[in-house]
Amino acid sequence: MAHLLVTGGAGFIGANFVRRALAADPGGRLTVLDALTYAGNRANLAEVADRIRFVPGDVCDAELVDGLVRDCDVVVHFAAESHVDNSLHDPRPFLRSNVEGTFVLLEAVRRHDRRLHHISTDEVFGSLPLHGSERFTEDSRYDPSSPYSATKAAADMLVRAWVRAYGVRATLSYCANNYGPYQNVEKFLPRQITNVLLGRRPKLYGTGENVREWTHVDDHNDAVLRIVADGRPGETYLIGSGAQWSNRALLELTLSLLGRPVDDYDTVPDRPGHDLRYAVDSGRIRRELGWRPRHPDLPEGLARTIDWYRCNEWWWRPQKDATEARYLAIGR
Ligand code: NAD
Ligand code: DAU
Repeated sequence: MAHLLVTGGAGFIGANFVRRALAADPGGRLTVLDALTYAGNRANLAEVADRIRFVPGDVCDAELVDGLVRDCDVVVHFAAESHVDNSLHDPRPFLRSNVEGTFVLLEAVRRHDRRLHHISTDEVFGSLPLHGSERFTEDSRYDPSSPYSATKAAADMLVRAWVRAYGVRATLSYCANNYGPYQNVEKFLPRQITNVLLGRRPKLYGTGENVREWTHVDDHNDAVLRIVADGRPGETYLIGSGAQWSNRALLELTLSLLGRPVDDYDTVPDRPGHDLRYAVDSGRIRRELGWRPRHPDLPEGLARTIDWYRCNEWWWRPQKDATEARYLAIGR
């Protein structure tokens, strides 16, 4: 079977991907390259540690990346700085990891003629009107609103150019918001779940009307596996479950699943440039690759995710206070 190189494989989606890929191909060879930033954690891979090669390192390290790419068949590129609020505070690491890192990887896959799957995000398309039925498609115009999404957009442009200019065999996917186990406590759902578990009040930005489309991380990763297996080089795929929820409604659901009154939260100042609504048309991947979300029922998936955080306080507790201190410093 193909030897996979997974960048960012110690992060939330990457670590879930590694487990899923090994489950799909039990004898498969898999190497993880991860810089172990604040968002990367080797504990995320503990269950599969003896089945993978873990290389601590930076995707901007051209020499290291060249050797790893040469030795693999397919690269799946998750490594990135991923949090919008952090990017608003300090964009520089985003430019380095997201743009320069993708450039370094592209040069290596070009030199060694390796297949690349690049993980992008629906955030590159910006904001949809709050009230409406419009959805992002593969042809939507890029219109990023934050330093995070601008650097993801820049990375996508590099991938598209390397496909056209050099014939690099790359695919791209754009998934909507993910949720599930091992997500960093800085993100919306883990932040609110762990606040409630600690007896603290959740924090809702602005009016809470903003809408996101929530996809279980295993469904995202199943889609990535489908694309790696059968995606057409040069092609782009949007991934989303169709479960669109306002932040306020999702917070109320979270509170009720945790046995708290649904109004037991604080509102805090809004995020600057806060995108109003994301919604994706995932028709292409459903039609062409037969992908379907296996966890489309958000309340059910959220209840399981809450259980995971309840049972794994050892995993999230060490980061919680530092994360909340960062939020306090920016007034959110
Ligand atoms: P994450 O922040 O949890 O994990 C990112 C991982 O990348 C970490 O393990 C980190 O150590 C590693 N990393 C960062 N910079 C690196 C570098 N320079 N070299 C090597 N490793 C580095 O992020 P996530 O939520 O798992 O997101 C993974 C990817 O999926 C990102 O590309 C993100 O843009 C994309 N994405 C995320 C979502 C979501 O809802 N979380 C949705 C769509 C797309
Ligand atoms: O759409 C895909 C994107 O989803 C990914 O590309 C990003 O990597 C990922 O972080 C996520 O971006 P968002 O900005 O949508 O996710 P976040 O979890 O930061 O916030 C979700 C929504 O909840 C957003 O509208 C802001 C709001 N929010 C967030 C936090 C942390 C709150 O209301 N309160 C909070 O405490």
